Amino acid sequence: MSEINLSLAVGHQEADQPVSWLKRDIILYAIGIGAKANDFNVINELDPNWAPFPTYPVALMFKGDDADVNDFKKRVGGSTAKGLPKFDPNRGVHGTQSIEILKPIPAVSGPGWKLRKRIVGVSENKSGIVVENEQTLVSPDGEVYARLFGSSFNIGAKATGEKFSKKIAGPPSAKPVPKDRKPDWVVKDKTTLEQAIIYRLSGDYNGLHIDPKIGQATGFGGVILHGLSSFGFAARAIVSAVGGSDPNSLTLFGVRFSSPVKPGEELETSIWEVGPGPNGTTELTFIVKNLQTGKVCLSNGIAYVKKVEKSKL
Ligand SMILES: *[C@@H]1O[C@H](CO)[C@@H](O)[C@H](O)[C@H]1NC(C)=O
Ligand SMILES: *[C@@H]1O[C@H](CO)[C@@H](O)[C@H](O)[C@H]1NC(C)=O
Repeated sequence: MSEINLSLAVGHQEADQPVSWLKRDIILYAIGIGAKANDFNVINELDPNWAPFPTYPVALMFKGDDADVNDFKKRVGGSTAKGLPKFDPNRGVHGTQSIEILKPIPAVSGPGWKLRKRIVGVSENKSGIVVENEQTLVSPDGEVYARLFGSSFNIGAKATGEKFSKKIAGPPSAKPVPKDRKPDWVVKDKTTLEQAIIYRLSGDYNGLHIDPKIGQATGFGGVILHGLSSFGFAARAIVSAVGGSDPNSLTLFGVRFSSPVKPGEELETSIWEVGPGPNGTTELTFIVKNLQTGKVCLSNGIAYVKKVEKSKL
């Protein structure tokens, strides 16, 4: 039995994960995050403006390089890091996720792409242990196309029971929602009853998203939508409202997952412009509300977008 010492895990490099995708994966992902019949530039590869939706790389950690369905339990196999206690896979929840897009990905990967992974933060509190990961999407010639940060909260996990926190890298934090003014944009969009069934085809085959019995047993009262599908709904809302529907307008996008969404529920994304972002972008703060439960489902939203100015006629 190896020693439990959370600080040993921080900085740990995991094995690289080979990843690959085809045009049909890109299109399936777009539909999984709610693209509509007239969103030709993300659903129709024959459209001259067609381009991969920029948040696609977040699907790759589950898809890997499989073309067919995979075994979810094997896919989420634990970390090889020293110093961590053994986590119960049934009590891990996705806490936060962000993606920085450095270069648009090609429509077809070809062989040789990988996710390079390391642990960049670990913290413990009374309710469990949070592990923060960095994943970079690297091309066969070693070029980084995207940098992802995600955290998982392992409910009930215990190392020493003492408060602990160490972090060596992470995404920028969202600015607070301005209290003194209404959002600059509000976008409503309804998920469908089949949303999770479609989204899972992008690689996350967790039974929680298709078998109502699993959601009943874990206290969700039935099937819940993948957090990363709601994540994509919000990214679509921002790209359409602020980026002139240009998939390449988005350079950074991040959220905290705060409450579940069931397939069929309606989402409302409220977006505030909060200042200039890096490299000529505009920085946005946003939240997503589940209109059926009235709860915020995605909080601490941050995005950098190349804003399309409305033409002055
Ligand atoms: C522990 O951290 C998690 C994840 O950030 C948070 O949701 C939870 O409220 C925290 N619990 C306590 C007791 O601070
Ligand atoms: C700005 O763009 C440069 C060149 O593409 C990139 O290296 C840098 O990381 C970007 N800065 C931010 C904060 O995104």
